[in-house]
Amino acid sequence: MPRTTGARAAARRLPRGYGAQARVYDHEYRDATADVAFIQARLDEARVRGPLLELGCGTGRVAIPLALAGHRVTGIDISEAMLDAGRARRRRLPPEVAARLRFARKDMRDFAFPRRFSAVLAPFSALAMLTEPAERAACLARCRAALEPGGLLLIDLFAPRAAGVPTFRTSFRLPPRGLLVEKESSEVVDVTARLDHVTYHYKIRDPEGRLLDEIRVAFRLARVDRAEIETALYAAGFDAEEVWGDYRQRPYGPQSERLIVQARRLPDA
Ligand SMILES: C[S@@+](CC[C@H](N)C(=O)[O-])C[C@H]1O[C@@H](n2cnc3c(N)ncnc32)[C@H](O)[C@@H]1O
Repeated sequence: MPRTTGARAAARRLPRGYGAQARVYDHEYRDATADVAFIQARLDEARVRGPLLELGCGTGRVAIPLALAGHRVTGIDISEAMLDAGRARRRRLPPEVAARLRFARKDMRDFAFPRRFSAVLAPFSALAMLTEPAERAACLARCRAALEPGGLLLIDLFAPRAAGVPTFRTSFRLPPRGLLVEKESSEVVDVTARLDHVTYHYKIRDPEGRLLDEIRVAFRLARVDRAEIETALYAAGFDAEEVWGDYRQRPYGPQSERLIVQARRLPDA
């Protein structure tokens, strides 16, 4: 439930990094299920039965349905606000499902676990939040260390097509009062730096249309192309065995919306 504040105080707020929108996130993406079904299908196809690690798990949008499907999932995220929202959802799950799900505050550039995982997932462009190639290389090295031999790494990135969508408006409702959330997203593409500068501006209104609160979020996303991710994976000790362009598993091409790579941990040299 959003805090009710004066519009003037809200307007003074500065843009914040990813996570400021934690309280609206699950309502905004409640219909985003295609990637979850895709990940589930990939895990089934690869007969992954062991524990899963999700990088940048946010509020558990992916981790929770996987736990409901019987997987043991550990989700890591850098944002305490996103993790808190995930933990609140976890408390509402049946105990046997909650027992299969763990959230931990960790940086995906530098994490370690005492145990190995059967698969590591980086859904919904999580890896693109690491804006420097060296950060992505560090993350892939940590993924390799966290995976059992032959373990699976599934990376879902947005496809870096030349033009972004400069401004996009959408709206959705926040339960239980049905408050209206209007969202304006803007994206400025820096082709030279291979970065997208993204800002989200949410306005939360009561049923009479009065502004109750605003949330501003600003972050950057790396425009990672196929050659780069395949090279980085190989350098980190992975074999990129499949590359798809969408959640329907169509081949990756110039018009693809997603760049999805399934990689396998190579044996030690
Ligand atoms: C696009 S969201 C995806 C959330 C969730 N996986 C989903 O699919 O709904 C990316 C997530 O990555 C997290 N994140 C960004 N940088 C991170 C880092 N260095 N380490 C861990 N998590 C990070 C953000 O806090 C955010 O929750």
